[in-house]
Amino acid sequence: VKDKPAILGGKPIVQEPIPIARPTLPDIHNISDGLNRIYTSGMITNSYYVREFEKNVADYLGVKEAVCVANCTSGLILVLRALELTGEIILPSFTFFATAHALLWNNITPVFVDCDPETYNINIEAIPRYITSHTCGIMAVHMFGNPVDISGLHDIATKYNLKIIIDSAHAFGTKYRGRLVGGFGIAEVFCLSPTKILTAVEGGIITTNDHNLARKLRIGRDYGNPGNYDCELLGLSARMEEFNALIGIKALDNIETLIQKRTRLAEIYYANLKHLPGISFQRIHPEDRSSYKDFSIIVDDKEFGLSRDQLSVALAAEGIDTRKYFSPPLHQQKLYSNYIKHSLPVTEYVSSHILCLPIYSHMEEIQVENICNAIHRIHRYHREIQMKLTTS
Ligand SMILES: Cc1ncc(COP(=O)(O)O)c(C=O)c1O
Repeated sequence: VKDKPAILGGKPIVQEPIPIARPTLPDIHNISDGLNRIYTSGMITNSYYVREFEKNVADYLGVKEAVCVANCTSGLILVLRALELTGEIILPSFTFFATAHALLWNNITPVFVDCDPETYNINIEAIPRYITSHTCGIMAVHMFGNPVDISGLHDIATKYNLKIIIDSAHAFGTKYRGRLVGGFGIAEVFCLSPTKILTAVEGGIITTNDHNLARKLRIGRDYGNPGNYDCELLGLSARMEEFNALIGIKALDNIETLIQKRTRLAEIYYANLKHLPGISFQRIHPEDRSSYKDFSIIVDDKEFGLSRDQLSVALAAEGIDTRKYFSPPLHQQKLYSNYIKHSLPVTEYVSSHILCLPIYSHMEEIQVENICNAIHRIHRYHREIQMKLTTS
């Protein structure tokens, strides 16, 4: 039949495969003058454009300091190092591994906490159970661009005298109760890699209202050398190149449009998928704004008729790329399994049922509609697909 899903021999719903993400880059003509300036000045790293990018980001986010680094991971490592944190840090297990790697690179013990079943952010109410005399801080993550409950986090941090650091890798342009994130906690660290809403090709940017911390971070990204070759701290070689800063500056000019486009794409997903049985969405507080770094769904196998993994295979046959972010969760990965003795049931459920669908800022609305149509027809044929996948 015409309607048959591709996995059952039908025609794929799209002719051109749809990737999970694509960077939205500034027009090439828009960067040629800047590139020329970089080439002719000979100042090709950590110079004029890096300073301008830092200023523009600080102005946009309403923070006192923005410090460019080579990537988000080195930014997280440097923040922990510059704050001289030791002991234990509480963090979600449902995150990308770089969040926890930054702790291990600083000899800090990660203490994994479950996530909230609806927001997929760290479960703030569970945190006090994990606080010991060694706990020095909390590393939260704005998952997929959905802001963490800052007010709840601040209450706990104040009560137990803990530092808050936020891995804001996904969250450039995210708003918590109407305010752009970036100035919460002691520092937030954004990722500017190709899959992010604001991309500098590669890169990271640390934001803080603490001038002294910013000074240390600027030294830290340059090996720890304050300029006189007498190192003050164990730094990294983590400067941002001028080319990356130039791309970042041009992309930032357009950021509000990019967010509006993603919000519109997310609305199309919601409208077209909300009546399907077994599909649910990340809850975003009505007064918040997600950057929609990712658009995720939770697939309940019994209600939908297929598991998350089966849906992903069926979508691949339609030419639609998906990702199982973040599966397995950190506490079930080889590197981290020794740091935990209990299970994290919500994290384990979310991790094994979540599927991220394609979203990027210049994606066409028709592409989202096609993806939704594909999910609908896969659902209509779930019994046949189930049979095919379990017998093959
Ligand atoms: C939550 C989170 N933290 C950190 C990173 C690492 O960023 P980078 O590749 O810039 O080091 C990522 C990358 O996607 C991420 O998703």
